[in-house]
Amino acid sequence: MNYENILTTTQNGITTITINRPSKLNALNKATIEELHQALDTANTDKNTKVIIVTGSGEKAFVAGADISEFANFSVEKGGKLAAKGQEILFDFVENLSTPVIAAVNGFALGGGLELAMSAHFRVASDNAKMGLPEVSLGVIPGYGGTQRLPQLVGKGRAMELVMTAGMIDASTALNYGLVNHVVTQDELLPLAKKLASKIMRNSSVAIGKAIKAVNANYKDGVNGFSVEIEAFGACFGTEDFKEGTTAFLEKRKADFPGK
Ligand code: COA
Repeated sequence: MNYENILTTTQNGITTITINRPSKLNALNKATIEELHQALDTANTDKNTKVIIVTGSGEKAFVAGADISEFANFSVEKGGKLAAKGQEILFDFVENLSTPVIAAVNGFALGGGLELAMSAHFRVASDNAKMGLPEVSLGVIPGYGGTQRLPQLVGKGRAMELVMTAGMIDASTALNYGLVNHVVTQDELLPLAKKLASKIMRNSSVAIGKAIKAVNANYKDGVNGFSVEIEAFGACFGTEDFKEGTTAFLEKRKADFPGK
């Protein structure tokens, strides 16, 4: 598949999706959001992709936000639709994928960029990364899930401060807040993300997909996460991966999971 705004490569079970508009600091315009949806959907259904890494091209930015030039003259109705559609096809979509998604934050992750990183299942960052939700400085609020996911990750007080000040935090503060799991140099960032992906890949993709669903259930209104966990746990017993995982353990060999 040929894309204009993103690059994708699949190697050794890992699909890396690189947002590729460096002259606009990888800002998310409509076309990029649609291409990301397509690429993520393809990777999620691809049996050879066990982990997805999302990153930005260039040395400066992961994503510097939604493309401001595209929505500057929007009406109330169009603004609402922009957020709803974006959440549906990209941000909620990423969070609910059964294939693990790691965000490798290689520079500015602002507004929609931080929201995209927060939709991923976890984040690693380079030491030059800067993160924030500057929307109120533009007279708008985060609309791609930022007001919900930032407090989930860093707590309400820190989220309120970041949103209200429209400020940026550096990578070490993000690490301290629990917003990112690891900070390394820019050169080490993709190798680290790939190393983590390789560790994930040793395990059952089918079980991991169910674990993602169960963890996410904790954050869904009106959903009982414990019930989702019980159901997903039970369902694992009917999978080939479970048979292989337990048999391999008892036979004292490495499991070779057939699933995904
Ligand atoms: N939407 C559209 N274009 C953007 C963008 C965005 N969110 N962020 C950066 N760009 C564009 C700039 O307009 C500029 O394009 P140009 O060269 O055609 O003028 C290019 O990317 C480079 O950005 P520039 O501002 O010149 O880089 P900088 O190093 O001086 O500043 C930032 C970097 C990230 C601090 C600054 O670009 C910025 O504040 N961006 C907007 C962040 C934001 O508010 N995001 C939330 C959007 S809801």
